[in-house]
Amino acid sequence: MSQVFEPNREFSRDARIKNMCEFKELRLQAEEDFEGYWDKMAKEKIDWFEPYDTVLDESNAPFYKWFNGGKLNVTHQCLGRHLKTRKNKAAIIWEGEDGSKRIITYLQLYYRVNRLANLLKNKFNIKKGDRVVLYLPMIPEAAFAMLACAKIGAIHSIVFGGFSADALRDRVQDAQAKLVITADGAFRRGKPYMLKPVVDEALKEGCECCSKVLIVQRNFEDIDYVPGRDYVYNEMIMNESQHCDPEPMDAEDPLFLLYTSGSTGKPKGVQHSSAGYILWAQYTMEHVFDVKENDTFWCTADVGWITGHTYIVYGPLAMGATTIMYEGVPTYPDVGRWWKMIEEHRVNQFYTAPTAIRLLHKLGQDEPAKHDLSSLKVLGTVGEPINPDAWMWYYNEIGGGKCSIVDTWWQTETGGHMITPLPGATPIKPGSATFPLPGIMAEIIDEDGNPTPKGEKGFLCITKPWPSMIRTIWGDPDRFVKSYFGDCKKDGKPVYFSGDGAMYDDDGYIIITGRTDDVINVSGHRLGTAEIEAVLGHHVNVAEVAVVGKPDAIKGECIFAYIVLKGEDTIGEEIEMIQELNKLITKEIGNIAKLDGILFVPGLPKTRSGKIMRRILRSIAKSEAITQDTSTLEDPSVVTTIEKLFNR
Ligand code: WT7
Repeated sequence: MSQVFEPNREFSRDARIKNMCEFKELRLQAEEDFEGYWDKMAKEKIDWFEPYDTVLDESNAPFYKWFNGGKLNVTHQCLGRHLKTRKNKAAIIWEGEDGSKRIITYLQLYYRVNRLANLLKNKFNIKKGDRVVLYLPMIPEAAFAMLACAKIGAIHSIVFGGFSADALRDRVQDAQAKLVITADGAFRRGKPYMLKPVVDEALKEGCECCSKVLIVQRNFEDIDYVPGRDYVYNEMIMNESQHCDPEPMDAEDPLFLLYTSGSTGKPKGVQHSSAGYILWAQYTMEHVFDVKENDTFWCTADVGWITGHTYIVYGPLAMGATTIMYEGVPTYPDVGRWWKMIEEHRVNQFYTAPTAIRLLHKLGQDEPAKHDLSSLKVLGTVGEPINPDAWMWYYNEIGGGKCSIVDTWWQTETGGHMITPLPGATPIKPGSATFPLPGIMAEIIDEDGNPTPKGEKGFLCITKPWPSMIRTIWGDPDRFVKSYFGDCKKDGKPVYFSGDGAMYDDDGYIIITGRTDDVINVSGHRLGTAEIEAVLGHHVNVAEVAVVGKPDAIKGECIFAYIVLKGEDTIGEEIEMIQELNKLITKEIGNIAKLDGILFVPGLPKTRSGKIMRRILRSIAKSEAITQDTSTLEDPSVVTTIEKLFNR
């Protein structure tokens, strides 16, 4: 059994939730009066323009509505309402990879956002409900653009800068976006890299919906301009007024879309709401990070992922905190970069991914000791399970043995934390996300909807709706219902299934055991195997392909492909094939989906009905013994052949 670490006493004394009694009390309140609990939170935390009529409307489940009838604007929650008390407080502290800094106060941020909101309205004719795609590096303008959309009621859809032109085009098309906001490029590992050429490539064909591109100049490299389509932000922004009235939004009006991978080939546009989402962002910032007025909060994610949305921009700003934003990689100019930044900015809460912790542990074990990290109070991790080794290093070397680690389990679809320790209350164990937040009804159930006993794996489900849940998949409500409410039932009623497996340990702590579907988790990022397979299938010499996750010491999982080539004469060209296949991946998805391993095989294990038995392929990639029954396969001998090739 793993060790238990009690919260730091001194920290607990000032924490919002000080002990397990208080935690249980909150949890009980939410259980006894579920709607009353959220009603109180929503009234207390959100500065409404107009009050709502109902807390939760379940009449059209699973299309739940929260705080229906209420009016608000998320930018009032994040900026406007803070001007009374925090106008000169730093909202965003940005650090470029080259060490340059920008500090943007709440008042400055408010004006910036208003200018951009006016620009979107006046020059680009963006109206409430229009979609705007952001393809931006980690610069403050990314936050300005998100908030400017929110201010006028436009729906932003951020596409992570590591995605290719093809992937960007798919997302522009699916959302029917009117405008793309991008940058010439930015800096990584000390060198400029480019984004604008990718946008040019993406918009070449089939994007008639999108007639304008707004470009932020960041690295000032040469780029092509398409007259009448391309505009430069830096020149236009100062001509706009710094005053702009917020669009009154319905609680349920979409705030943003964010595309994520599922188990079929096509990415899903996860749609989030305005009120429920912002309530959650704030609720979790307060409870999970316990951020105080003078704290400095740093989440190292990219704004292209949900973590960046909720914990770089919306969460910290909703609570009037100071958020740090960093442009570059953690290893530039050396592996002490992040620790140096924590020291310099006196960071109080630090939130990152296990993959980064493992990397910095491996490359720079002794770096943390060279820096004063004593300002830290809470450490967080997200995105994938954390191994005990990395956890202990994080706890001792970064946290000095005095900071709780909040191992936060959640998803793009949940909007914010769901299962996590509370730093002042929960005794923590390496590798466990511990307990659901008060108000979250998470359960681990078996195929029949019964709770699984301790120590046994089951399906991780959320059995009651929560305010920040996904509202639908953009343009595909049927897929929304099927993807999330199609697999698990409790008391005969469909419940939200996360796609993850989990179990309770002997003390009832939740351990996430990983995806149960065909989604793999590379460095905390989700990739659909079907998506990658579809791309590889486009190569003329590929007859069949199956992609699985393979354990990786740094990335958690890496991408491994079993490939059957067409015709015998191609076998000798394997090395070239590897390069060609990776080129395809880079073109159609992006570098993040590059293959780490390829095995050319004569055939794939299939059932007599032709279904590929991926579980067998997963076991081989993990070097696990094959426990599945192979006798029902069309050709059982193929398994031994693949195993031999794998171990060669
Ligand atoms: C998937 C969601 C949540 C923001 C980043 C990823 C895995 C997430 C944990 C954790 C173990 C975790 C799950 C989940 N995951 N957090 N603390 N421990 N696994 O968002 O891309 O939507 O991926 O990440 O498998 O389903 P995402």
